[in-house]
Formats: sequence, C-alpha cells, structure tokens
Amino acid sequence: MPEIKDILAQLDGENRLRTIPHEATGMIADLSSNDYMGLGELGDGFREEFLNRFPDAAFTSSASRLLSQRQKYHFSLEEMLEGLYGKPALLFNSGYHANVGCTGALTLPGTLFVCDKLIHASMVDGLRIAGSVFKRFPHNDLSKLEMILSRECRNYEHVVVMAESIYSMDGDEANLMKLVKLKHLYPNLLLYIDEAHAFGVRGERGLGVAEEKGLIDEIDLLIGTFGKAAASAGAFAVCSEEMKSLLVNCARPFIFSTALPPVNAAWSILITEKLVGMKRERLHLAELSRRFSSRIEEISGVPTGSTSQIIPYLTGDAARAIAIARTLRDAGFLALPIRRPTVPPGGERIRFSLNANLDMKKLSPLFDVLRDERIFINEN
Ligand SMILES: Cc1ncc(COP(=O)(O)O)c(C=O)c1O
Repeated sequence: MPEIKDILAQLDGENRLRTIPHEATGMIADLSSNDYMGLGELGDGFREEFLNRFPDAAFTSSASRLLSQRQKYHFSLEEMLEGLYGKPALLFNSGYHANVGCTGALTLPGTLFVCDKLIHASMVDGLRIAGSVFKRFPHNDLSKLEMILSRECRNYEHVVVMAESIYSMDGDEANLMKLVKLKHLYPNLLLYIDEAHAFGVRGERGLGVAEEKGLIDEIDLLIGTFGKAAASAGAFAVCSEEMKSLLVNCARPFIFSTALPPVNAAWSILITEKLVGMKRERLHLAELSRRFSSRIEEISGVPTGSTSQIIPYLTGDAARAIAIARTLRDAGFLALPIRRPTVPPGGERIRFSLNANLDMKKLSPLFDVLRDERIFINEN
C-alpha cells in the first residue's frame, strides 16, 4: 500500500493538492461560490424576519426523518414545494444525499441507467455504491444516447436516463425538450434530471429549466438543491407519490441519517418564498451572463459553450489555472481553479460563477487581468 505522504506528494507534484480556503476579506467579487442570486451575501438582511416568523424552530431534529418528532417545518417545506411543482416533494439532507439515495432506490432488478458523461459525482457515486448497471453517453450527444436506447430499452424493464439541466463545470445545458421526446418513444424510460444549478435561477418562479420549458410534468425525478441559489442547505426530489414512497422506504441516506435541523428547513421556506418572486434578478443574471461570456470569448478566442451563469475559462493545465486564480485574487476576484478529478485532464479551468448582485462595471478589472495574462502567454 502506498504511504499517505507519497500520495500527497504526488498530488502536489501534479498541482492537484487541495486545501480548504479561509475566509477572504476585501474582495470585489466572489465568483467561486454557487450563491447565484446573491442571497447568501444578503442573508443577514432576512435575520429579523426569520426570527419573528420562526421563533420556535429547533436547532436539531435529533433523529432521521423516519423517527424525528420535530418535523413541522420539514413538512411545511415539502408542502410548499408540492404547491410550486404540482407534484409530491421529498427533502434530503443535501444534493449529494439525494442523488446517492435516489439512484440507490431506483436500482431495482432489471434497471439500466444511461447517463451523460458529465453528470455530477454524487450520481456516479450513487450508481457505484448501489452496484447499478449503467452506461454513459458522450456529453450532450443525444444521437449516441438514442443509439444506446434503441439497442437496450427492450432488454431492460426500466431505463433511467440521467442528466443535469445546467452542468456544474461547463455551464451548458441538457436539451430537455429532446430528452422528453426520446422518453415518449420508450414507455419504460424514466427521466432523472438534476436541477442543482438551475433551481432559483431559471424559470418564471425559479423552479428550474424544466419550468422554463414547461416540462415539469415530463420529468420523472427532478432534483433541486438548497445550498446554491437558495442560500441554505439540503435538497429535494420532486416525483410521483409512488416514487416518493419508494424513496422513503429505500433511499438509504434518507433512512440512515439525522434529518436536517428544523431551523434549516424553516430558513429554506423563507428563502424559497423570496426566490419565487425574484424574476427581475433572474433576468439581470441571464443578461449579465451573456455579456460576461462574450467578453471571455473575445479574450480567449474560443467559445465558452456556456448558456448559463457558470462560465468556464479553459486554461489547458492545472499550473496555469492556479496562476490565473492567484492573479485574479490579488485583483480582488475570487475564482477557483478547477482541476482533476473534478474535470478530465486538459479540461482544467477557472470556473466563473456569476451572481445577481454583480454588474459588468464591477467585473471590468477582471477582464484586464485575463487580457494581460493572455498577452503574456502569447509572447512567451
Ligand atoms: C449537479 C449537482 N448535483 C448535486 C450536487 C450536490 O449538492 P449538495 O452540495 O447539496 O450536496 C452538486 C454540488 O455541487 C451538483 O453540482
């Protein structure tokens, strides 16, 4: 077995040794967090309102959802989500728990999962832990997906197609419309869509891309998370009553982990109410993202591929990603370098994640940093 110190030295040698960042002060903008609507930054502004409305919210559930006596706010939040989506909802402790739990519960005999190559690690881990049978198709290549489905759908009782509505590292989107069309060709196909990066950000009421495209009813299992645009923690699955019951009975992270504290469920209620009404901020973020992405394309000379608030700036290697992140930090912009294993080799990048509190004027010095770095690279 290799020594721990050798493993760490190897990671360091490959510019892949990670450390936990300390709080940064005096920054112009934090472009590394997933606080897309800027509510995390403004959260303190709701403290009074929160304390007035939820003075009895306890700080611990003290047991899992199947045992806890303190779940008033968990149920209220689920009811609220059910009202918004028009379908039952089930809370999980995090998006990671939700994906591990849902993939595990859906791993029934005779089930094949067909997944986009870039789905989040939590879904891949869920499939691996459950020993699920799964195949992957190249990112967003729906003709390859169709080939797999035409070959395999008749061999399995259930086929679950897994994708993200907005991809966390590339900021591009699954074509939900086409996925739904494919679903209609195969009666045993279920659509599993993770909206972690779209909840709060897209759609008339912030319910995600499925809402924006009028497809909520077509998605068999929709995952949303509260830790990103919703400035809270936790996650939820939206699905049929029957599927919800399957998850309650078979999703192991739901069964075997202490439920979120009621105070957290109550906070998610308050923030979700705010999110629903943030249409103007969503439009602003969409416009800002378009303008930011075209400036990045002008500087890099290559398309970003992004259609969302997540905009990658590819650096080609980890050392350059780290160096750019450092220069950006000195200029007041927090943007983290993304390396293996989060992205494949060669896909190293700076991941810019924008939020609704920003504007192009605030971001202007960032473009100067990137342009200067580009000139330096070209000249050396
Ligand atoms: C697509 C996707 N799903 C799920 C998760 C996990 O969510 P959570 O942070 O709530 O565990 C993430 C987190 O980055 C994600 O990007």
